[in-house]
Amino acid sequence: MPGTDTTRNARLISWVDEIAQRTKPDAIHWCDGSQEEYDRLCDDMVESGTLIRLNEEKRPGSFLARSNPSDVARVEGSTYICSAREEDAGPTNNWMDPAQMRTTLEPLFDGCMAGRTMYVVPFSMGPLGSPIAHIGVQLTDSPYACVNMRLMTRMGGAVLDVLGDDGDFVPCVHSVGAPLAPGEKDVVWPCNDTKYIVHFPESREIWSYGSGYGGNALLGKKCFALRIASSMAREEGWLAEHMLIVGIENPEGEKTYVAAAFPSACGKTNLAMLIPPKGFDGWKVWTVGDDIAWIKPGADGRLYAINPEAGYFGVAPGTSMKSNPTAMNTLKKDCIFTNVALTDDGDVWWEDMSEAPAHLIDWRGNDWTPESATPAAHPNARFTAPASQCPSIDPAWEDPKGVPISAFIFGGRLSRTFPLVFQAFDWNHGVYLAATMGSEATAAAVGQAAIRRDPFAMLPFCGYNMGDYWSHWLEMGKKVTNPPAIFRVNWFRKNADGKFMWPGFGENMRVLHWIVERARGRARDGVESPLGVMPTRAELNWHGLEFDAKDFHELMAVNRADGLAEAEDQTELFARFKDRLPAEVERQRRALIDRLKAAPEVWELPS
Ligand code: OXD
Ligand code: MN
Repeated sequence: MPGTDTTRNARLISWVDEIAQRTKPDAIHWCDGSQEEYDRLCDDMVESGTLIRLNEEKRPGSFLARSNPSDVARVEGSTYICSAREEDAGPTNNWMDPAQMRTTLEPLFDGCMAGRTMYVVPFSMGPLGSPIAHIGVQLTDSPYACVNMRLMTRMGGAVLDVLGDDGDFVPCVHSVGAPLAPGEKDVVWPCNDTKYIVHFPESREIWSYGSGYGGNALLGKKCFALRIASSMAREEGWLAEHMLIVGIENPEGEKTYVAAAFPSACGKTNLAMLIPPKGFDGWKVWTVGDDIAWIKPGADGRLYAINPEAGYFGVAPGTSMKSNPTAMNTLKKDCIFTNVALTDDGDVWWEDMSEAPAHLIDWRGNDWTPESATPAAHPNARFTAPASQCPSIDPAWEDPKGVPISAFIFGGRLSRTFPLVFQAFDWNHGVYLAATMGSEATAAAVGQAAIRRDPFAMLPFCGYNMGDYWSHWLEMGKKVTNPPAIFRVNWFRKNADGKFMWPGFGENMRVLHWIVERARGRARDGVESPLGVMPTRAELNWHGLEFDAKDFHELMAVNRADGLAEAEDQTELFARFKDRLPAEVERQRRALIDRLKAAPEVWELPS
């Protein structure tokens, strides 16, 4: 019986057997997670053409993968939450009746691993044995998924030891959906035009078919650590969030941890690896995680967070020594790059990394020059890198009890209406601020650009009804006696000339500093605006940055008409949840309208 030499967990053994009978792989390999195994899998993929070994001097131990051009990103349209009742998946998720979905998947998985090896990948989301961590097992016919899972999670035999004879795990079945007939030659990146990324929240199962890429195939990440975990967290009284976690250390050595949620393309990985600017000598920002936080209440009434992942699966284009030197230094060795460009000397390149080389091989494998009409790297090209290689990794990042969170920060990319920073009046107001966040979809030619609402940055990742998720957050506020303070930020406000008003990047440290002082209740009184509590100019540290008082007041101003239009626009989102909309969230919206109506046409900070 496969695996009986590595585990005696009866449920695991019989499930592996059952899936093998359905999917009919040629062989089964139980991953031990060793370096030898990783090297062997990579060597095999170099041989088959799936991986290209990069220049050993420039990028030691690293590889480039090029996906099928049709398999380059998460497929939200084919992602399903199959709860027993449609209303439990809610209006923001695709739903199908679980029985109907199982009938749909049956013929797809029948024999789908023929000609391939099925890998058994035991993984822990979170430090092994942490009371906040949970175990999953992914069965996959993709060696690429296997090696990426080893970089992104704690993977292998040690997980089976923690699982023990009767430990619980989330079963995750993954197939690229490309069975091979006897003698048939494989392609470099097998996948299928038919794709299903399916979650059964009640039985806590994940089934993924047809894609070999990222969040569709590395099932520990979005599928488990967010969709299934958010549903587990609701049942068990904790939080699974799309948040980075950082520790902010002051020159006296005091560290304050904050967690922050932003929709994609708002610089989350950059913020997670921020280098303090001039004027912040002795300050340091430590990275705990860049994408996902699991947060549980501690006995002392505070919330404690772990990063369930063990690596970064970051967007490569835009990452440079200027925008994120810490990430660039993390990527110096032992990484996997997917869909970036290959340089003539066997290294990688992507847009905005540096000046474009005169010649490259682009992500599709074609010759590329700066005159080419298409980008050299796919805009969603990724790096997979071990977190342990990050120069700013927090010494406590693997602490099994997690790190205590003092503040939650929510942000989006908004050119109007929203000032640089404000604090929620209380927990419930904070939940409302997070529920209504979003980013501009496009810059409309005239007037307010449409906001794509992305509540808590969880729109594609909440594994149940988003209205119930807001209720869960409101409930957590009642249970936790010492909850984090909640803030909204916006690095992207523009002036009348369409120019960004705030320099962003490392300068965001000035905002983090105020947030830390407020969260610690120290000598920052703030001023109540209609939106929330704001810093006066004097409360921010301006050392090392020339920033005009007039510009600051413009950056922080609240325009009554814009605020009222925003409150009105939120009704469209709220209406979708019908009776699942918590009354408190609508009450907060009305309270905002009342505050705006009582405010001057343009509310400004006192000078
Ligand atoms: C990601 C995402 O890949 O949020 O992290 O899409
Ligand atoms: Mn993400």
